[in-house]
Amino acid sequence: MKLYQVNDYQEMSRKAANIISAKIILKPQCVIGLATGSTPIGIYKQLIEWYKKGDLDFSEVKSINLDEYKGLDENHKQSYHYFMNKNFFYHVNFKKENTNLPNGMADNIDAECDRYNQVITNLGEIDLQLLGLGHNGHIGFNEPGEEYKNGTHCVALSESTIEANSRLFEEGEVIPKYAFTMGIRSILKAKKILLVVSGKDKADILNQVLNGPVTPKVPASILQFHNDVTVVADKGACSKIN
Ligand code: F6R
Repeated sequence: MKLYQVNDYQEMSRKAANIISAKIILKPQCVIGLATGSTPIGIYKQLIEWYKKGDLDFSEVKSINLDEYKGLDENHKQSYHYFMNKNFFYHVNFKKENTNLPNGMADNIDAECDRYNQVITNLGEIDLQLLGLGHNGHIGFNEPGEEYKNGTHCVALSESTIEANSRLFEEGEVIPKYAFTMGIRSILKAKKILLVVSGKDKADILNQVLNGPVTPKVPASILQFHNDVTVVADKGACSKIN
């Protein structure tokens, strides 16, 4: 794995946005795997700025998102559809038909997982997969467990993930307990992986991911087996690296 240690969140965002831009410029029809959460927001802001300057064109780019809450429709303010529209898609020239997220409102869980696996297959290879890191080592919503789950699945979110996500919900709003997520095999099949990590609160888990044993108890540790992972992490996140 290649690790870029940068000073702060802003530098992390700029570096990661540069890596994504390079891919899009070199391959305008590329497939980019996208993440939500607070970490990538600065990256999306930077990409929007470069798009507005005329340096980037998303008209042929295809995107596939990692996950979506079960039970939230795309207009719900906490849904990942809404997040992506608000923080990225509405500000650049992605074609709607080229963007993909799991359907949180699907009644039939198995059918939705099959559909999303098929979407991933039909896209061919993911050229670049952007990942954030959960405090418990999750990537997408592949939560710690006894084994890795390969394909898209519906997962019961761990207490710590629900707790971490609760900051984004308003008082009284029901916080979803389940989510659809891309599986580990789909993530690992991406040609290149870009993991972004910010803040001291992620320092312990980042060290485990990079230097600990590969185990489904720390899902992101499996990235050690991928041959093209770039980690961009700020000082706080790197403060416990052995
Ligand atoms: C979101 C996702 C999650 C987040 C992770 C970190 O699409 O896949 O794995 O990347 O929960 O979230 P933040 O960036 O909010 O700390």
